[in-house]
Amino acid sequence: MNIAISVLVNKLNGLAPQTAIILGSGLGSLVDELRDAVRIPYSELQGFPHSGVSGHAAEVVAGHLGKTPVLMLSGRAHYYENADASVMRAPLETLHGLGIERLILTNAAGSLREDMPPGSVMQITDHINFSGSNPLFGEPSDRRFVGLTNAYDEEIQAQMRAAAKSADVELHQGVYMWFSGPSFETPAEIRMARTFGADAVGMSTVPEVILARFLGLRVAAASVVTNLAAGMSGGELSHDETKEMAPLGGLRLAAVLRQMLSS
Ligand code: HPA
Repeated sequence: MNIAISVLVNKLNGLAPQTAIILGSGLGSLVDELRDAVRIPYSELQGFPHSGVSGHAAEVVAGHLGKTPVLMLSGRAHYYENADASVMRAPLETLHGLGIERLILTNAAGSLREDMPPGSVMQITDHINFSGSNPLFGEPSDRRFVGLTNAYDEEIQAQMRAAAKSADVELHQGVYMWFSGPSFETPAEIRMARTFGADAVGMSTVPEVILARFLGLRVAAASVVTNLAAGMSGGELSHDETKEMAPLGGLRLAAVLRQMLSS
């Protein structure tokens, strides 16, 4: 057994969550809502990423949200840190080994739609991998040929939409396009993305979706919009702006997840 799994099994002391959430920018405070929370820093979990991005913690937090046992990953590593698209493979394998069946991914994203301004929440219904990379490069088994036709689980998506309705949160739906980062896109790239059918752009999540499907986890994902994408509003984009704006949509998405998991 992978060592991180045994460490977690030990620390969780009988708690057996089937649902995990990866918390992106703006959602970090959701861990404070877990009852009887157990916190395990990534540094104690072999294979988990050490570095992160400012605005992210680096710990696993498990507990109950309402009646549901949930495990949260607060903080992720990104492809742009070391050009390694498989950097989240060990954490996802650990979740799978722990018995997690359902994975909810969250992130911050730039919006390509005027009707989806900063503060909006978008359910990801499909994605475009525009990074040129793949977390399964180098995977030798034929299991690497993962089908992604139904990458985003219909049933979990429907549960998320129902939860949004109950929580009175407008939940947009759209296609998320993965750019490698860390530089933001150019206005020309954003025009291209729109032509290609994207509704939002970002620098994460897609490699995790591919890995999760490789492992057989059921997946849903949502973005909080922190900005209109490059060229859509006057000024220059900045990481500070995305960090500043993330809590706005983060509160809305947290309300959806709270509703979804507590019922
Ligand atoms: N582009 C890429 N990633 C992002 C953006 C963006 O505009 N906003 C937040 N993450």
